[in-house]
Amino acid sequence: MSTSTLSMQPRGLEISGLGKSFGGIHAVRDISFQVNPGEIVGLIGPNGAGKTTCFNLITGFYTPSAGEVRFGDELVTGKKPFQMAQRGIVRSFQKTNILKSLTVFENVLTGHYMEAKQSLWRTFFPNQAVRDKEVSVRESAQKIVHTMGLAHRIDTPASALSCGELRLLEVALALAAKPEILMLDEPAAGLNSQEAKTFGGILKTLRGTLVRSILIVEHNMSLVMGVSDRVVVMHFGQKLAEGSPAEIQANSLVIDAYLGGGKKE
Ligand SMILES: Nc1ncnc2c1ncn2[C@@H]1O[C@H](COP(=O)(O)OP(=O)(O)OP(=O)(O)O)[C@@H](O)[C@H]1O
Ligand SMILES: [Mg+2]
Repeated sequence: MSTSTLSMQPRGLEISGLGKSFGGIHAVRDISFQVNPGEIVGLIGPNGAGKTTCFNLITGFYTPSAGEVRFGDELVTGKKPFQMAQRGIVRSFQKTNILKSLTVFENVLTGHYMEAKQSLWRTFFPNQAVRDKEVSVRESAQKIVHTMGLAHRIDTPASALSCGELRLLEVALALAAKPEILMLDEPAAGLNSQEAKTFGGILKTLRGTLVRSILIVEHNMSLVMGVSDRVVVMHFGQKLAEGSPAEIQANSLVIDAYLGGGKKE
C-alpha cells in the first residue's frame, strides 16, 4: 500500500443511532452500521430513503440530531468535512466538481493541491522539499489515472470524455485526497450495463491499493451486489435490513420496499 493513510493502523467506521430531522420530517432515524477495515459496504434503498443524508451526516456536511460517528477509537460526530477528509474519510458527490476545460491529469493534480499546504512564496520560489513534493504529487496523480483506467485519456480535456469516463474521473478526484475510507454517492449514475461492469471491476481493484474500505450508495443493483461484501438497506429513513448481497436479494422486506417504490406520499 502506497499512501500515508494506508500505512497507519487500520480503522473502522462505526455509525450508531444516527438521526436527522428537517422540521418534523425524520430523514434519517436510528441508523447503525459499520464499515470494517478492508470492507466494501453497499448502502441502498429507494429514492428518498435517506442515503445521501446519511453521507452528509457521516462526513460533517450536516450535524446529526442524534447518534454518533466513530472512526477507530475517535469520536468524530460533528467534525467539519475538511476534518473528516484529514482523517481519511472522503466522499464523492452526486453532482460533479470536475473542471471541464482541464485535462484528466490536470483535474487529478488539482485534487492533490487542494490538500497540499504550501505558501505562495514557496510556489514561486520552490526549495528542494517543494520540488520533491511536486514530483511525488505528479507520480501519485499518474498512478490514480492509471488505476482508474484513464491512462489513454490522461491529456484529454474533461469536456471530451464520455459519460462513463467522467464517472471514473470523479472517483479519481476523490482518490487525490488520499482516503482511507472512500464514500461514493451514486458513482455509476447514467452508465450502461457494460460501463457499469467495467466500473465495478475498477472499484474492486481500489480496495487494498489506493483505499482501505469503500462505502457505496448505488441504484445499479448488479453493480452494488457485485462489489459489496455487505449491504445495508434503508427505507423511509430507517434501516430495513443488513446482510450479504445474496441474503439481501432474497429478503422479502427488501423486495417489497423496492416494489412499493420510494418516498412516502
Ligand atoms: N436539506 C434538506 N432539507 C429538508 N429535507 C431534506 C434535506 N435533505 C434531504 N431531505 C429529505 O430527506 C429525505 C431523504 O433524502 P436523501 O436525499 O437522503 O435520500 P436518498 O436516499 O439519497 O435518495 P436518492 O436515491 O433519490 O438520492 C427526503 O425526503 C428528502 O426530501
Ligand atoms: Mg441520494
